[in-house]
Amino acid sequence: MCGIVGYVGKQKAVPLIIEGLKRLEYRGYDSAGVAVLHNGAFEVAKKIGRVTNVELQAAKQKLSGTYGIGHTRWATHGGVTDENAHPHVSSDGRIALIHNGVIENYAQIKRFLLSKNYTFKSETDTEVLCNLVAYHYAKEPVATNGDSRFVESVRKTLRHTEGTYGIVIMATDAPGELVTARKGSPLILGLGDGESLVASDVSAIVSRTQSVVYLKDGEIAHLTANSFAITTLDAGTVEPVVDKVTWSITDADMGSHSHFMEKEIFEQPTALENAMRGRFSEDGSTANFGGLNISANEFRGVDRLMFCACGTALHACMVTEHLIERFARIPVECDYASEFRYRNTPLFRNSLFFVMSQSGETIDTLAALREAKRKGYKVLAINNVVGSTIAREADGGIYQHVGPEVGVASTKAFTSQLLIGAMLALYLARMRDMSFSDGTQMVQALKGTPDLVRKALLQAPHIQNIAKRYAKATDMLFLGRLSLFPIALEGALKLKEISYIHAEGYPAAEMKHGPIALISEQCPSVFFAPNNEIFNKVVSSMQEIKARKGPIIAIITEKAELPAGLADEVIVIPECHEAVLPIVASIPVQLLSYYIAVERGCDVDKPRNLAKSVTVE
Ligand code: F6R
Repeated sequence: MCGIVGYVGKQKAVPLIIEGLKRLEYRGYDSAGVAVLHNGAFEVAKKIGRVTNVELQAAKQKLSGTYGIGHTRWATHGGVTDENAHPHVSSDGRIALIHNGVIENYAQIKRFLLSKNYTFKSETDTEVLCNLVAYHYAKEPVATNGDSRFVESVRKTLRHTEGTYGIVIMATDAPGELVTARKGSPLILGLGDGESLVASDVSAIVSRTQSVVYLKDGEIAHLTANSFAITTLDAGTVEPVVDKVTWSITDADMGSHSHFMEKEIFEQPTALENAMRGRFSEDGSTANFGGLNISANEFRGVDRLMFCACGTALHACMVTEHLIERFARIPVECDYASEFRYRNTPLFRNSLFFVMSQSGETIDTLAALREAKRKGYKVLAINNVVGSTIAREADGGIYQHVGPEVGVASTKAFTSQLLIGAMLALYLARMRDMSFSDGTQMVQALKGTPDLVRKALLQAPHIQNIAKRYAKATDMLFLGRLSLFPIALEGALKLKEISYIHAEGYPAAEMKHGPIALISEQCPSVFFAPNNEIFNKVVSSMQEIKARKGPIIAIITEKAELPAGLADEVIVIPECHEAVLPIVASIPVQLLSYYIAVERGCDVDKPRNLAKSVTVE
């Protein structure tokens, strides 16, 4: 979604803000802009398209100064135009503002402001908010509580605002000061040496400082180059907690890879090592998680689990469901977070609620978490971004520890979610019926995952060749069974989001109840056919496709023996424990989607219409 960067310090602000915006481009955007204060007036450069367009425009306009704000926009209110891009400047010229989120009562506020002779150039809710700050700023000459007038006018504005926001504001009368506030949209303060930053994502800050403060909903921060203070909407003071970011800017660089997605696919063995480090018991028979904040006893009392997430993370939940039910024999339900929040699902007295989210900012997942908490349930989060809103609002959880994931299409975050799901299944199973020796065997298998993934990655050149042959397909099916059905869903999602080929995932045997109608020489099917108890059933499904001239790409394990000539393409992955299989089987579909998208000339890291973290409903 939209990205925010604000800077006040000693350096030239525009290049720093542009660099920050480029680091946020992966979140999804359609236009961008920067604003600086010069000789008492705002100078603004805004352009649709890439951040480089704004960079050129800002250079043309000779924007300079050591203080400014910048934004990448993903349109919600109003089309993709230069005018609608942020920053917006109030019609009296005194306030400049950038905004992530949606102001729900903007129409009502706009009517009020029009009656006060404020004027509007754009169709956005943000310009309305900007003018409302200007209105309060003009009307409240003296603050009553010792706050600066600037902060007070923002506070008054936000008291009249419904919806979600992460905002950063400059005022002509307050040079060198930034005011920033959040409700529902992430904001992080960066505290540097003689400089302060604010951004919607740590990656825009970490090249300047690793000292950060995660702003909470309902908080307003006032920043200068050398100071910061946080208060609340009702003017309470806040004792800030300064955190250290544990990764550096090189972790968010592409290195020698052509795309972040490629880098992140090949990073998976290390990412998985990091996700499991220190998380097995000393006796080597179960998993250990530090931050669950629930005693083993409470866990033992749980008789039902509910998982909510969106997109790829939901597929990881579905695999986790399979593994927990298989090994721990606890009933699990998975739901789209966006559905759960309005569905009024019956929960049980001893249900335990989990959410899964790479970013920890997905608004639907956050809403599901809040709904479960409102109903009195403890909520645990499996989450990658440290300090995210979901991590902070959950009662406990498990961090994925895979570092920044920049590619919009999730890869390393997904496989680490699968690994953590498998470890959770082990942990719950060992509390119930799983024996010590089965536990140690599973631990050994899980520890071996990074090497198996390394081995699967060796197939990359072979998969690249296959991709060349199928890159012109217009439709594709992904078919798998049991724990590989969610991987079929994930394969289809990966392919469609980055290559724009229509794809569907199905349980392999379900294919004959409808999707088989799509089969033709132009519609290839990707089959998962591991060497297991239902291998022959999967082969029968393949025969049905073959009989209708559908091309088959088979992903099989080493010991699986396919009838000669059945598959047009075969990709072999190592044999592995069934808890590890979904992880290893994900690698070929990630690579296939990636290489097909590259072959089709698609913008892999920034697919059209998509955003890395979806912070609007
Ligand atoms: C697809 C993808 C999305 C996300 C979804 C949830 O590759 O990345 O489907 O999985 O938007 O995002 P998080 O995990 O950040 O909640």
